[in-house]
Amino acid sequence: MVEIVNIAVLVSGRGSNLQFIIDSIDRGEINGKIEMVISNKRDAYGLKRAENHGIQGLYIGKGNYPDIHDRSIRILEALRESKIDLIILAGYMSILDKKIIDEFKNRIINIHPSLIPSFCGKGYYGEKVHEAVIQYGVKLTGATVHFVDEGADTGPVILQKAVNVDFKDTPETIADKVLKVEHELLPKAVKMYCEGRIMVEGRRVKIKSEIGDRR
Ligand code: GRF
Repeated sequence: MVEIVNIAVLVSGRGSNLQFIIDSIDRGEINGKIEMVISNKRDAYGLKRAENHGIQGLYIGKGNYPDIHDRSIRILEALRESKIDLIILAGYMSILDKKIIDEFKNRIINIHPSLIPSFCGKGYYGEKVHEAVIQYGVKLTGATVHFVDEGADTGPVILQKAVNVDFKDTPETIADKVLKVEHELLPKAVKMYCEGRIMVEGRRVKIKSEIGDRR
């Protein structure tokens, strides 16, 4: 019997991905518990969602911790205090300190709104990703769930799913299509993680099947 996984979700904005994880846990699909939601934006709607579900919400941002080093220490303290096993970055628009990344190696999951390694890394966030997709003229884009390492969107890929880019698409319509896929992939990856089914071998991720891995 795998122990229940203590989760911290880090957000910066509306937190729709957070909501899908909350709902999936409520339906009993994920063997985990969200212990806290941390936001670097005081007015992030994700914090409101946490409050609505009786989840501890913490604002740790420039407003209350102007120094980046102090901010990182506070985040690490909070994660340690609540004995967090897994960190989920669900639209968290800030860089995590190396100390946190090292301490939580292969225990930080991020969702990115493109098919990594395309349209990712420095400067590719939010609308910019989808604008670049249209500008380049690719016919496919999508969402990627991956582990976080020291680089920008460079960690091992866990799940990906593509969506078509049509000629009439705008950054907004692509964002909508990709977000739907994100809402499917992120809870799925979290579920697999919490069942202990994700193995990392170098850069490659192996997912064990639900009924024992015979491969
Ligand atoms: C998502 O598109 C995610 O891929 C990106 O930020 C957005 C967050 O959306 N990193 P939400 O806050 O979960 O609604």
